Amino acid sequence: MKSKINDQVPLSTLIFTLNWEDPESDVRAIDMKEGQTLMTITSGGCNTLNFLLHAPEKIYAVDINPAQTCVMDFKIAAIKNLDHHEFISLLGLIKCDKRLELFSRIQHDLSEESKLFWNANSKLVKKGILFNGKFERFVKLAGKMLNFIQGRKKVEKFFSLETLIEQRDFYNKRWNNKSWKLIFTVMFNKKRLAKKGLVAEYFHFDDGAQTFSESFYNRASKVLCDIPVKSNYFLSAYFTGKYNSENEVPLYLKAENYEKIKRNINKIEVITADTKYWLEKMPCSCIDGFCLSNICELMSEEDTKKLFTEVARTAKPGAKICFRNLMIPREIPEELQNIISKNKCVSENLLATDRSFVYSKVAAYDVIKK
Ligand SMILES: C[S@@+](CC[C@H](N)C(=O)[O-])C[C@H]1O[C@@H](n2cnc3c(N)ncnc32)[C@H](O)[C@@H]1O
Repeated sequence: MKSKINDQVPLSTLIFTLNWEDPESDVRAIDMKEGQTLMTITSGGCNTLNFLLHAPEKIYAVDINPAQTCVMDFKIAAIKNLDHHEFISLLGLIKCDKRLELFSRIQHDLSEESKLFWNANSKLVKKGILFNGKFERFVKLAGKMLNFIQGRKKVEKFFSLETLIEQRDFYNKRWNNKSWKLIFTVMFNKKRLAKKGLVAEYFHFDDGAQTFSESFYNRASKVLCDIPVKSNYFLSAYFTGKYNSENEVPLYLKAENYEKIKRNINKIEVITADTKYWLEKMPCSCIDGFCLSNICELMSEEDTKKLFTEVARTAKPGAKICFRNLMIPREIPEELQNIISKNKCVSENLLATDRSFVYSKVAAYDVIKK
């Protein structure tokens, strides 16, 4: 917690105003069907909102950080009260100088905590919240470094390429130079990572890399060569700090999906809690799908075991799980692997096609119980 605006309401740091996990991977991992009950990690709210297109019965959006709950509340209240053009204007997807007016029209639908949070952050509302969380500000800085190193024209050229053949050719001939490799060495060098308690020698990288920088370089190179740039809004977000066009955006931001999102908006319940303790209070066998992001990297092995014990208990028979690692390897504890079983074939495919290339693992699991 950073500070308090009064004795009751803690002001926490807003980290994400977007999800950086590819929602297509979540949908495929949990094999989403209409009428299901899901548990998602809220983060920037995008992936939870995308799920509304599959008409779920209920989504519990859980996040330990109250600021992420405020982001979700903000987006939900905006969807309930605004038309599509107003919605994307308020969020900051398109230019607008009336954001505070639009905000005043959604306030009555915010919780007291969210109202206080956003009034204390009205400068951010005025700017448009998208791309203005702490993580996104870091991404924008990294994007500036990339544009400086590679040159703005080269970056623009990359986004104009039409086929994978062109992408690979461009990558090999013009992109994959010493400066490109240097970015990874600077960002993921031993000193910087050691400060965070990470020593590469302890880790085994799935791609055979020896260091974190090599592993991230491999993943970034792969996405530049193997995934069509035109369909990858994560690349434009990472490389230019924005979405390149109104068409290349998460599905919940698109005009054609807005009515369906609006119709289903009341299906989301937003909860501020540590997932493992929230699950503890839920009944047995009540959830069809879990999207757990990479939350276990922030937990001890013991807490990871507690989390998955609760997942196994609250999952319906046949439930599915999407689970990621960013840097630190975490796996389902051995003693639970007979109940929570990795679907190797789907997992390999998810990792190969994930548009947000930063994750070392994107995996799908089935819950096998009676
Ligand atoms: C795990 S982060 C992942 C985002 C990003 N991809 C990354 O790797 O940094 C996503 C969200 O998980 C939330 N989170 C972390 N641990 C959690 C927990 N135990 N229960 C609920 N939410 C948690 C964070 O507050 C954050 O909003």
